[in-house]
Amino acid sequence: MTSVLCPGSFDPPTNGHIDVIDRCIATFDRVVVAIVENPSKQPAFTVDERKAFVAASCPDAEVIAFRGLVVEAARAAGADLIVKGLRGEADFAYELQMAQMNRSFGGVDTMFMAASPEFSYLSSSLVKEVAALGGDVSRLVPADVARALKERHG
Ligand code: PNS
Repeated sequence: MTSVLCPGSFDPPTNGHIDVIDRCIATFDRVVVAIVENPSKQPAFTVDERKAFVAASCPDAEVIAFRGLVVEAARAAGADLIVKGLRGEADFAYELQMAQMNRSFGGVDTMFMAASPEFSYLSSSLVKEVAALGGDVSRLVPADVARALKERHG
């Protein structure tokens, strides 16, 4: 039985995030989505809102919030591995360094899942920017996220 942790900000989750989580669910026995709660950052959505968005789109995943180190969250959740989605080379450079750090001091391995090409341009920050400027993001994010962004920005 292999349990994996999918950590991230998910502020908000995009269809790219959901695609990676769904493919983890199809691949591994147990998937825990871990939403970072960073007291020094001001997210657009509260951790409870982000948890609800992911839980609604991925009913077969467990969804938790965590503060502090991701390797501690993986240990506390009983996860064997961390899984991160990769959209391209820029992600790889950053994620490889984090994966090596997490293995070196935390003893937790990371596996990468290639983003589906149709989602490789998506990011939470671009989605928020487009929504804030009045663009239609309904094809890019789950329906409840699109609704929440629309309510916020009119
Ligand atoms: O969705 P994001 O913003 O790319 O997620 C980044 C996240 C939350 C996975 C990363 O910032 C993280 O692991 N934060 C926890 C703090 C930590 O463990 N830092 C050391 C990593 S080497």
